[in-house]
Amino acid sequence: MNFHHLIPKLLILIITQIRWTNSEGFYDTCSRSFSCGTISGIQYPFRRHQDPPECGYPGFELNCDQNNLPTINITNITYRVLGIDPATQILKLVRGDMINSCPQDLVNTTINHQLFDYTPSYMNISFLIGCPIPFDVEGMISSFFCTNIGINPVILVPGATGPGVCKTSVVIPSPVGFTGLVEVLQDGFEVKWKVDPGPCADCIRSGGLCVSDISRLATTCACPEPPLLADTCSNSKVNKTDVGLSPPSSTSSPTSTGGIKHCPVAA
Ligand SMILES: *[C@@H]1O[C@H](CO)[C@@H](O)[C@H](O)[C@H]1NC(C)=O
Ligand SMILES: *[C@@H]1O[C@H](CO)[C@@H](O)[C@H](O)[C@H]1NC(C)=O
Ligand SMILES: *[C@@H]1O[C@H](CO)[C@@H](O)[C@H](O)[C@H]1NC(C)=O
Ligand SMILES: *[C@@H]1O[C@H](CO)[C@@H](O)[C@H](O)[C@H]1NC(C)=O
Ligand SMILES: *[C@@H]1O[C@H](CO)[C@@H](O)[C@H](O)[C@H]1NC(C)=O
Repeated sequence: MNFHHLIPKLLILIITQIRWTNSEGFYDTCSRSFSCGTISGIQYPFRRHQDPPECGYPGFELNCDQNNLPTINITNITYRVLGIDPATQILKLVRGDMINSCPQDLVNTTINHQLFDYTPSYMNISFLIGCPIPFDVEGMISSFFCTNIGINPVILVPGATGPGVCKTSVVIPSPVGFTGLVEVLQDGFEVKWKVDPGPCADCIRSGGLCVSDISRLATTCACPEPPLLADTCSNSKVNKTDVGLSPPSSTSSPTSTGGIKHCPVAA
């Protein structure tokens, strides 16, 4: 009757234990492939918001929302993720604040050029907002009212253009050959991510999982058994039959494959 005061201490003990285990075993806490919102088969360098930071590379955190598209924050702008192609490292994005074809936040689109490059398949379009009436500008694509902005009318022009006589302008990347705002919302624009894969290929071949070493800002390999973080894993958990059939990898050092003892060949 008297020992219920021990419960909090016990809880702390258990939580500490879990935290300790997590910090060591990213192989068990991170996923090789996961679903987020309506997109499946997502892999490193991405991680979900709720995953430990080490499961992804910094800047690749996805927010998942049940049956909706995942979102990602890049330089303080939220984007909806329309697609992720690991083979080409291309991400398809549309600004999350594009409501009824109009941007809600009156800021230009900027991406983090350390992590992403635009692909050649995009062009800029500019929303000139709060223009005098009547207003006409060369190359004007269309003019309309955006009920979500409140400063009108809005003129759409190609290129990255300043506001001129209008109140402000917002630049939005769009598919090249842009023909209408519906395309901007449906197809978005593409960026290619450029995270150094580091030892990822060797890591996966050796049965490991690519994770990030946050302090070094680099990709590393999480293994099912010690050494838990290395460039490649010991092969002992992979099919025994495979071990010895493949030639020794020149990139894996003896220390990182630790544990395997090569038996002397019988004479
Ligand atoms: C993001 O927004 C926060 C708060 O609004 C601000 O403090 C921070 O400087 C912004 N970061 C960038 C990269 O713009
Ligand atoms: C993402 O960006 C939005 C602004 O579009 C901001 O409100 C939100 O706090 C940001 N979230 C994170 C996790 O940085
Ligand atoms: C789009 O505009 C940005 C500046 O806002 C510029 O750096 C970039 O080169 C432009 N891209 C194209 C394809 O014109
Ligand atoms: C957007 O970029 C254009 C030129 O690239 C600039 O003239 C304009 O002021 C920018 N708009 C905002 C809201 O910063
Ligand atoms: C082990 O071998 C089986 C059958 O050859 C294969 O399906 C499985 O993926 C292999 N496991 C690993 C970890 O390579």
